[in-house]
Amino acid sequence: MIRFEHVTKRYADGTTAVDDLSFEVAEGELVTLVGPSGCGKTTTMKMVNRLIEPTEGGIFLDGDDISTIDPVELRRRIGYVIQQVGLFPHKTVLENTATVPHLLGWKRGKGRERAAELLDLVGLDPSLYGDRYPEQLSGGQRQRVGVARALAADPPVLLMDEPFGAVDPVVRERLQNEFLKLQAQVRKTVLFVTHDIEEAVRLGDRIAVYGQGRIEQFDSPATVLGAPATPYVADFVGADRGLKRLSVTPIEESDLDQPPVVHLDDPLVTATERLRSEGARWAVVLDGRDNLHGWIPADATTTATAKGTVREHARRMEAWLPLGAPLKQAFATMLQHDAGWIAVIDKESEGRFLGVLTPARLHEALRRSIDADAQDVPRAEVAVETVATA
Ligand SMILES: Nc1ncnc2c1ncn2[C@@H]1O[C@H](COP(=O)(O)OP(=O)(O)OP(=O)(O)O)[C@@H](O)[C@H]1O
Ligand SMILES: [Mg+2]
Repeated sequence: MIRFEHVTKRYADGTTAVDDLSFEVAEGELVTLVGPSGCGKTTTMKMVNRLIEPTEGGIFLDGDDISTIDPVELRRRIGYVIQQVGLFPHKTVLENTATVPHLLGWKRGKGRERAAELLDLVGLDPSLYGDRYPEQLSGGQRQRVGVARALAADPPVLLMDEPFGAVDPVVRERLQNEFLKLQAQVRKTVLFVTHDIEEAVRLGDRIAVYGQGRIEQFDSPATVLGAPATPYVADFVGADRGLKRLSVTPIEESDLDQPPVVHLDDPLVTATERLRSEGARWAVVLDGRDNLHGWIPADATTTATAKGTVREHARRMEAWLPLGAPLKQAFATMLQHDAGWIAVIDKESEGRFLGVLTPARLHEALRRSIDADAQDVPRAEVAVETVATA
């Protein structure tokens, strides 16, 4: 969808901002460009919509050499969220959002309708916020308007230059989550600039880690964290990259253990025998549809004269997660509930129980994903800190 071929940009004063850059972004892919200040991220981005012209090399959009496309025509196909949002202060939120449709000569009504739709999409009620001016919004709200405005003409490509840079970490995380949901819906091809490795890892399908004017590594977040290509990248992603990896590695079905399972309406006697024969200290309790209900400790069922059913003795399950949740969340959930294991359910089928994740299996899961990514890398180099399983 977007292809850079040996692109170099030298400014008039001799600064080489981008040096022989080649990479490709697939359709519907979100690529984050991450690197320190001044490494050439904004320059890279502005060359895509011809706000800056490369000195050498070519950039292709959908196979077309962009130097042959009229810049105005080109920018119709590319939404742009600039560093520091850049809303027009004298225009309302609705007018700001409708900027591009307006420039494209859409009828006023249609542009406003589209703008209202998009404000809704980014979580701002247009009837509440549409007539406000940017100064009457919080920082996070302004950034949402910036995203809505970039999406207004429904361009296939989005360039986002630190779109969430100007808000505090809590708001930023919320905006990131919302943006991920939005992207799952609209599937744009996105170049997303950030200098925050956490943000790059959370959002990117792939990450381009910039050194000075060059890409040092262009890989999936898991690979960048698990097998940094150079000492520079290793240093940039940080000594805690093992921990960061937890947030990009999902729980898979093969990570789960199968503990004993009893059902709500089982007689307690049956449950007791079951636990005793398997030498288990507890069992998972499921309802009639095999959905997770809770758990039952072995000592609830020790008396041979136990009466009634499992239902009366089942305990609430505090620690559970859907399949596919990141291992980091699994780890956090374990700590929060001081749990030795957490139940994992299938989100798709309204909570069908799939198995449990234990600290030992969590550790294995982390190892497994590192090994898969780092086959070509000497073992010692990928030895990342792991979570204590005690
Ligand atoms: N118009 C210009 N003339 C000369 N040098 C420039 C110009 N614009 C940018 N540069 C230089 O090019 C280099 C790359 O700048 P760029 O704006 O692409 O960095 P960046 O990675 O986006 O940084 P930041 O994270 O601070 O936004 C920097 O050294 C910058 O000083
Ligand atoms: Mg920049």
